[in-house]
Amino acid sequence: MDAQSDSAEHQRPTGIHLDAAAVAHPAVGGSVAPMGRETVFDCQGLGVRYHGTRALRDVDLQIHSHAVTALIGPSGCGKSTFLRCLNRMNDLIPGAAVDGACLYHGENLYGPDIDAIEVRKRIGMVFQKPNPFPKSIYDNVAFGPRVLGMKDSLDDRVEQALRRAALWDEVKDRLKSGALGLSGGQQQRLCIARALAVEPDVILMDEPCSALDPISTAAIEDLMMTLKNDYTVVIVTHNMQQAARVADITAFFSVDQGETGPRTGVLIEVDATDRIFTKPANERTEAYVTGRFG
Ligand SMILES: Nc1ncnc2c1ncn2[C@@H]1O[C@H](COP(=O)(O)OP(=O)(O)OP(=O)(O)O)[C@@H](O)[C@H]1O
Ligand SMILES: [Mg+2]
Repeated sequence: MDAQSDSAEHQRPTGIHLDAAAVAHPAVGGSVAPMGRETVFDCQGLGVRYHGTRALRDVDLQIHSHAVTALIGPSGCGKSTFLRCLNRMNDLIPGAAVDGACLYHGENLYGPDIDAIEVRKRIGMVFQKPNPFPKSIYDNVAFGPRVLGMKDSLDDRVEQALRRAALWDEVKDRLKSGALGLSGGQQQRLCIARALAVEPDVILMDEPCSALDPISTAAIEDLMMTLKNDYTVVIVTHNMQQAARVADITAFFSVDQGETGPRTGVLIEVDATDRIFTKPANERTEAYVTGRFG
């Protein structure tokens, strides 16, 4: 089965293709509304402090299903911090405190009854540096399902995850070999397969290509565009060409330098990617995308 038919099989009812024309009008520090798309995340006044120092404030941003949303902006503006809010990974960072609301399918992820482990199962994450476990290829992909007790048809589950990550053909004859023997690009696709194996709803990727060569980068970019058929994909990237190539929606973050207070990350603008790069509403966005800042 190829990746396309695999995705068709899992198509959700809301799977309408998004294009720039389907995006309603620009929103400055707010949201764009892709018609016919489900709102997966609705962040309202979201902020983060580390040890009491505010790193990110007042983010109002909606993220929609079946689209790639890219987060761009200068170093230190809070892109990774924001991404970690979406699956409660900041809970694992000492001194991090999240305020405001982050609704996921209408439910506050930071509500009292929410199980953070379940959240991270539904909302998977892939990091900048490929981080496979020092185990076999098979055991890497089977790790999450085993931990979560999803042991039915484990072989099938591993195969499907590897197929969806566009890695199956390259590894099907060496599943019991060590994952650390794979190339960097293959390791990153393995990490994507590991995230997919627990059947998430959302895939978050923090600069997933920054450690990869151009060919591996192209493979991951192709994969992102396939994955959005079945998943909600959010990426952080410093590579503006990459955002322009793969993202339907782009959110630009920057840093406000308080007169006396610390530097704080803020969301400046979110819109259809082509508008962000050709006709941004905010001059700070324009300065950044034209290379005059950051
Ligand atoms: N674990 C932490 N403890 C304390 N401060 C942190 C921590 N992680 C991030 N910060 C601070 O929060 C702010 C935002 O950092 P973050 O890593 O989210 O930025 P970023 O936009 O992802 O940057 P980059 O593009 O360099 O990855 C920065 O000022 C950073 O120093
Ligand atoms: Mg970062």
